[in-house]
Amino acid sequence: MGARRSPLLWRTWISGASSGIGEALARELAARGCRLALFARREAELVRIRGEILARRPDAEVLVQPGDVTDRRRVGEAIRAAEAAFGGLDVVILNAGTGDSLFPDRFDAGLVERITRVNYLGAVYAIEAALPGMLARREGRIAGMSSISAVRGLPGAGPYCASKAALSTFLESLRVDLRGRGVGVTTVSPGFVRTPLTDRNRFPMPFIQPADRAARRIVEGIRRGRREVCFPRRLTIPARCLRFLPAGLYDWLMSFAARKGYSKAPEGGGEG
Ligand SMILES: NC(=O)c1ccc[n+]([C@@H]2O[C@H](COP(=O)([O-])OP(=O)(O)OC[C@H]3O[C@@H](n4cnc5c(N)ncnc54)[C@H](OP(=O)(O)O)[C@@H]3O)[C@@H](O)[C@H]2O)c1
Repeated sequence: MGARRSPLLWRTWISGASSGIGEALARELAARGCRLALFARREAELVRIRGEILARRPDAEVLVQPGDVTDRRRVGEAIRAAEAAFGGLDVVILNAGTGDSLFPDRFDAGLVERITRVNYLGAVYAIEAALPGMLARREGRIAGMSSISAVRGLPGAGPYCASKAALSTFLESLRVDLRGRGVGVTTVSPGFVRTPLTDRNRFPMPFIQPADRAARRIVEGIRRGRREVCFPRRLTIPARCLRFLPAGLYDWLMSFAARKGYSKAPEGGGEG
């Protein structure tokens, strides 16, 4: 095992651990000796993942915590149960997320509400529950799964982009507020990762990468105490440059990309 895969031994809580990046994070962290609390709605999937981890590493400690991140009380209960089982939490990974397309002819505020509650408020509820313990011990790290989509409003993806932008901005404020208090904040902004969420996309996804590779990059970023983990660079650097384009030029470029098929089709899809 090289330096990149050194043991970590974190006591870790992960939301959205039942598939995709969350599942890959659980496997990567378990392989590195972390104790895990896995939170998501699909209990059967969490049980399957725990079974697979234990088959490889019988000494692993894996708590299965079924629940919905939009349920503030349940999120609080789960985090307190994980703290009690492990004697505290070193890392909390706010990974649960969802996405769907929204177009003007079928505008639905309910969809915006649902995505906001999962991607943004769900993370806020977990922060509310985890912060007191971390502040009391003056150590810990909160890692939030934002997205490259947070940089600007992408066509057909308003609810998703806005929820991720809200999360990124919130985590940035929190990071500054926590300066000197022993608790770090990492904002993770990946490009496209192959998961059930992106399997639904019908448009080209440049530089898409497997979930296990994404998980390794995220864990390494957390280990190094990075404020931001953005990858792959060949996508995230140009995407970040979009921020500096004037609105007119941005609109023209996005319309061009949509005409070329680099965008959501009105029949719906996942995000990334
Ligand atoms: N894949 C990408 O290209 C990409 C890129 C950038 C950012 N991200 C972000 O990465 C995170 C993981 O996404 P993924 O691609 O791995 O998708 P995924 O395979 O669909 O995983 C989403 C996870 O979130 C959980 N989840 C959804 N709604 C939930 C709720 N209300 N309560 C609790 N858990 C909930 C799901 O579990 P249950 O259904 O069992 O609840 C699942 O475990 C998301 O925040 C996503 O926005 C993904």
